[in-house]
Amino acid sequence: MKQYKNVFIFDHPLIKHKISILRDKNTGMKEFRELIEEITTIMTYESMRDVELVPVEVETPLEVTTQYRIAEDSIAIVPILRAGLGMVNGVHKVFPTAKVGHIGMYRDEETLEPHEYYCKLPEGIENKMVFLIDPMLATGGSACDALNALKKRGCKKIKLMSVIAAPEGIKAVAEAHPDVPVYVSTLDRGLNEHGYILPGLGDAGDRLYGTK
Ligand code: PRP
Ligand code: URA
Repeated sequence: MKQYKNVFIFDHPLIKHKISILRDKNTGMKEFRELIEEITTIMTYESMRDVELVPVEVETPLEVTTQYRIAEDSIAIVPILRAGLGMVNGVHKVFPTAKVGHIGMYRDEETLEPHEYYCKLPEGIENKMVFLIDPMLATGGSACDALNALKKRGCKKIKLMSVIAAPEGIKAVAEAHPDVPVYVSTLDRGLNEHGYILPGLGDAGDRLYGTK
């Protein structure tokens, strides 16, 4: 994946440790949800290095100094429903006041084609840095369509964060949206014939919400 300059794959021991538990089929819903959240927070720290800072004057007990704070109301979080919801709290831990938009996508289980069924975004999102989040980047169809939906509504600064990605998904997003930085905690081997990531973790939405 070195050929894609905008793709960042984490190689962090803490993430490796947490991913190994996340993958385990015996890990229950509560722990799964907590791990997704924790991994997202770690990824957010790493992916926010170019966030907009504004200078502020601060009076310490000794003197006045110019310091830097994150620009107010400059961040938005957009989970791809449904599994992306599991990552929202992880980003909110870092940016507690970030507004949240929602994009609803489901993959047709036969064709693997994504379908948008919902889109509600905060006002002024076109001027914010948008964290588009979805734990699974499989064929990349859902992420590509969600990025198109955000761009259509004027978003210019978008980052995609996924917990686990297949090479196919990274290629699809990196080629269709070379302007979008993609942050992935773990790169997996590939996809099976049903579009599931291998070794993967199964169906992220089902494991987060106890369905199926
Ligand atoms: C999963 C996942 C992604 C999508 C990834 O959602 O959360 O959105 O599949 O696959 P792709 O890269 O091939 O598009 P799913 O369609 O299962 O919906 P859900 O989140 O409601 O379970
Ligand atoms: N969606 C999931 O939830 N898991 C996969 O492995 C692929 C798509």
